[in-house]
Amino acid sequence: MRDLTSDTITPAVISTVRGTKDPRLAEILESLVRHLHDFVRDVELTEEEWAAGVDFLTRTGLTCTPTRQEFILLSDVLGVTMLVDALSNRRSAKATQNSVLGPYFRQDRPQYADGADISGGLPGTPLFFEGRVVNGDGAPVPGAGVDVWHSDADGHYDMEVPGQEDPAMRALLRTDESGDFAFRSIRPASYPIPGDGPVGELMSATSRSLMRPAHVHLLIEAPGFQRVTTMLFPSDDLYLDTDPVFGVKQSLVETYETHEAGEGPCSGQTDEPYTLLRRTFVLEPLPAR
Ligand SMILES: [Fe+2]
Repeated sequence: MRDLTSDTITPAVISTVRGTKDPRLAEILESLVRHLHDFVRDVELTEEEWAAGVDFLTRTGLTCTPTRQEFILLSDVLGVTMLVDALSNRRSAKATQNSVLGPYFRQDRPQYADGADISGGLPGTPLFFEGRVVNGDGAPVPGAGVDVWHSDADGHYDMEVPGQEDPAMRALLRTDESGDFAFRSIRPASYPIPGDGPVGELMSATSRSLMRPAHVHLLIEAPGFQRVTTMLFPSDDLYLDTDPVFGVKQSLVETYETHEAGEGPCSGQTDEPYTLLRRTFVLEPLPAR
């Protein structure tokens, strides 16, 4: 292993990882080295560009805190998160599709009874959500855990709202015997991903928008079924085709119905205009062992 050249260094490095005990780790490392070296050769990376790349990744790590994960954000904006999801969660066409989990899920969310107001009293257009969870044959899935969380009318999650210490606009619900669940909250708004770190620099350098389309996050779990991590986007959102994290799927674009005060089929009507969102979620069974 001496006098290596740009042509011979790649097999030399790969030969050093072939003794890795874990065969899957060996496979990943070999492919990583091959692709990384091909990338460097392809763009003929200069020493200055290599140093800039090291600096970028270093600052990405230094930007991470217990409440901010800049590396996951980098993965999101490079499409890696959704690519891994696509490879890991192949589903039938009728099953509800996944999207990104995002950084705003909280384990300390409150459990609520069916139909509860989960808004925490924050201002906004009332949102009534009526959901149903079924299997591939359309039969209800009772007792499914349904996590919901979303932003407020300014695009802020509860931890970003000044003075809001308790969880709000998030809940753990459970489907009833008919597979149904419902809650009341406020209509979420589109919001920018964090733009004040290295990922923001990357987005600016590539003239990309930071704005995510508005959405309600849902995470649905039931014994015997694949977990669904998804979100529902309003069909009239301006940012559906420029989502910086590539999370929009057409099957997750939904009509956010607008109703006048006192009008419409929703059980929890208000004396002000409101939004009604209805959706059936189809779970895919776990693969047979
Ligand atoms: Fe979100």
